[in-house]
Amino acid sequence: MKMSSFFPILIFCMILFFTSPCYSDPDQLQDFCVADLNATTTSLNGDFFFSGFTKEGNTNNNFGLAITPGNVLSFPGLNTLGLSMNRVDYAPGGVNPLHSHPRATEAGVIIKGKVLVGFISTTNVLYSKVLKAGEMFVIPKGLVHFQKNVGRGKAVTITSFNSQLPGAAVLPATIFVSNPAIPNDILAKNFQVNETVITSIKSKFGSS
Ligand SMILES: *[C@@H]1O[C@H](CO)[C@@H](O)[C@H](O)[C@H]1NC(C)=O
Ligand SMILES: *[C@@H]1O[C@H](CO)[C@@H](O)[C@H](O)[C@H]1NC(C)=O
Repeated sequence: MKMSSFFPILIFCMILFFTSPCYSDPDQLQDFCVADLNATTTSLNGDFFFSGFTKEGNTNNNFGLAITPGNVLSFPGLNTLGLSMNRVDYAPGGVNPLHSHPRATEAGVIIKGKVLVGFISTTNVLYSKVLKAGEMFVIPKGLVHFQKNVGRGKAVTITSFNSQLPGAAVLPATIFVSNPAIPNDILAKNFQVNETVITSIKSKFGSS
């Protein structure tokens, strides 16, 4: 093809490429969001600074854990920006129980202490390692994971998410403390135990 006839075609293709609509839905930002079709205003992002991580969380609980979220709910300035962070404090021996984030991959850094970090792939391979201050980890989106403070003192991590509201399905709570409760016979079959065992586990979470 001669250059003189090629150029108009090239220009036409470029115009087509840059002007044709190419839209897709964004990832969901929360579990669900029923449209307010009557809304007449668009709200603006709020404050762009957040001091929530300056204080140590209270780890005086059964898990020895405190999670301070810096997500769109506590820090509205993050709205629509697609990211958020958490401060996580661990008492000695503290555990962040098995959980997954349905809307985000997580990257974290150990600020203080020694933390065992693990996640389980969908082929049930456990990837885990003990990390110390300054070391980093990543948890692929949606995979079940946990952390444990394996050092002598307290531990602190800062985690980040590629969602303004990553969500957390915390397995012990999801399974044993849902409202309404998952019927005991279903849980008994799932875990291959009798219903007495299930009732006993539920009672530890103040549920029946
Ligand atoms: C929207 O406005 C209509 C008409 O005023 C009203 O009937 C309806 O309840 C409103 N819906 C919501 C979700 O506020
Ligand atoms: C339920 O299972 C537990 C643990 O295996 C066992 O000790 C208990 O006797 C069983 N209870 C009934 C009612 O079968």
